[in-house]
Amino acid sequence: MTASATLAIIIGSGFDALAGDAARHDFITRFGVPSATIRETVFEGLPVLTLARHGDDHTIPPHAINYRANLVALGDLGATTVVALNTVGAVSELCSPGDIAIPDQLLDYTWGREHTVYDGRDDAVEHIDFTEPFAAGVRAALIAAAETAGIQCRDGGVYAATQGPRLETAAEVDRLARDGADYVGMTAMPEAAIARELGLDYACIAMVVNRAAGRSDQPIHEEVAASTAAAAKLTMRLLRQFATQAK
Ligand code: HPA
Repeated sequence: MTASATLAIIIGSGFDALAGDAARHDFITRFGVPSATIRETVFEGLPVLTLARHGDDHTIPPHAINYRANLVALGDLGATTVVALNTVGAVSELCSPGDIAIPDQLLDYTWGREHTVYDGRDDAVEHIDFTEPFAAGVRAALIAAAETAGIQCRDGGVYAATQGPRLETAAEVDRLARDGADYVGMTAMPEAAIARELGLDYACIAMVVNRAAGRSDQPIHEEVAASTAAAAKLTMRLLRQFATQAK
């Protein structure tokens, strides 16, 4: 169960390009089974662990993902840095469909998810400092990689995590905007907080695939279908440069 990779990439919706087929790791953590087999692959010369957050067949909805098992497994395999790919809708004008961003803040509207490794079973509890929810070093490396490769990538913005799996109402998106959100997605929480609890340096690449509900004249699913490939392509380029620089 040993792996030499210290970088893990959590692959979200509409993004399978990284699911390499080198070593495979299947095991059970103290929190249960991860979403999928963790694959170890060499990406741009860098050993990398990859994990499909929604399962290999994309059958696990955001609220049912075992975030704890996923992150504990990646940490047990040696990951110290986690880059998460998360599709989002654009709430503010910061980004448009097809763009990518590296958010720097979070709002959490999720509920009922297993959201902490401190579940009282072993008497341990730590109140992590979550003032800055994303790892500054990983964010900076992603932004630097984007600049080096000439990739347009928004530095910062507030990611609002909603429960899903349904999309939001227009009024809910108006509320997110009043709360200061720039992007809305369903998976960065509790993932980011659990990563912090486990001491993993975690940052997210937000792939903007639609305007959030009530923010576009086009049906959301049409916008997603039209924009996902562009955002995925930018993400792949960014990851290649990031891996090259991390070697
Ligand atoms: N809302 C929530 N999650 C999402 C969206 C959205 O509009 N687009 C992609 N993931």
